[in-house]
Amino acid sequence: LLQPVILSGGSGTRLWPLSREKHPKQLLALIGEETMLQATATRVRDFDGSIGVAQRMIVVCNEEYRFITAEQLRVAGFNNCALLLEPAGRNTAPALTLAAFSAVASDSDAVLLVMPADHVINDKPGFHQAIQNGLQQALDGAMVTFGIVPDRPETGYGYIQTGDQMADTQVRELQAFVEKPVLEVARQYLEGGRHLWNSGIFMMRASTWLKAIQHFNPAMYTACQASMQKASLDCDFVRVDKEAFLSCPADSIDYAVMEKLGNDKDLNIPGYVVPFDAGWSDVGAWDAVWQVSDKDDNGNTVHGDVLLEDSRNCLVISDSRLVACLGLEDVIVIETPDAVLVTNKANTQNIKRVVTRLKEEN
Ligand code: GDD
Ligand code: MG
Repeated sequence: LLQPVILSGGSGTRLWPLSREKHPKQLLALIGEETMLQATATRVRDFDGSIGVAQRMIVVCNEEYRFITAEQLRVAGFNNCALLLEPAGRNTAPALTLAAFSAVASDSDAVLLVMPADHVINDKPGFHQAIQNGLQQALDGAMVTFGIVPDRPETGYGYIQTGDQMADTQVRELQAFVEKPVLEVARQYLEGGRHLWNSGIFMMRASTWLKAIQHFNPAMYTACQASMQKASLDCDFVRVDKEAFLSCPADSIDYAVMEKLGNDKDLNIPGYVVPFDAGWSDVGAWDAVWQVSDKDDNGNTVHGDVLLEDSRNCLVISDSRLVACLGLEDVIVIETPDAVLVTNKANTQNIKRVVTRLKEEN
């Protein structure tokens, strides 16, 4: 079976003031009616490929968000999920290792489809096709990544150097993986035309992941194994053992495994990349929210009680009051009861600075 795994642990500070520690990005309905977590879960449930999809999602999140996470999944029609609760974040590699241990307990051959909870994918059939395209390699014991054609030298993403296309497939060899390169390197990759962005979605057998993490980071493997062996069950909630998990080293999937894969002859797990063009966005900042949202004839996106006059290409969200805008262009206004953000689109990547200052000054 194809076992969906949703990683739901980020905070999304660049989407302040709607995204806060108490309301992280994946639990918000920024685009459309569903929250990003709900959209992530519903996006795969009707996958109709050459293997079936497990209806019991594995969701890994911080224990602080367990009720809202369970409630959002229930509303979306998922009454039977395994919610693995982390007492503290240790980044994505331990989260995936917990999920892999959970998956092998019920299906030793499961293929994991690992999805971040905070991405938008507009073209669902295209996404399903991409999964199908990489399935055979995952079944054969490889690590499968999904690569996006880059359009700017983004330094917040991983870059995958692609090799030859495998005969009779839509899949390319993964030659090298570089997580978050510096700007100069990202520019070279963009110009060279041989690199794709890592979308952050992965597919591999649970056993393949466990073998890799045991090889590259045995301490992480052991800590996660103990966390699951001593976990306590409480309905859908799987509370991983706190002491064991807090002793786990922190690292991301990308640094802990993907970057090292190509250079390791002993391990012998091949990597592949499925080129992927399905309206993907990680909606990292407000300009990206505007980009992927439905717009009116003037290019504006509005939510809530908003009145716009003579304005173009704006994103205006009102949470609690009437917001009126006149003669604006390329401006973003986010209103909440206790904070209002007004910025132009070009600056939305820098909102972390505002959040950092607020933390310092409070
Ligand atoms: N459960 C859990 N626990 N989830 C986590 C944790 C954690 O400690 N840390 C992060 N996550 C979740 C986030 O909620 C997000 O959905 C996903 O894992 C990825 O984490 P990010 O922190 O958003 O990673 P990133 O954006 O810096 O980089 C990754 O994604 C890029 C594409 O958006 C990498 O995979 C890059 O290579 C990739 O390009
Ligand atoms: Mg991210």
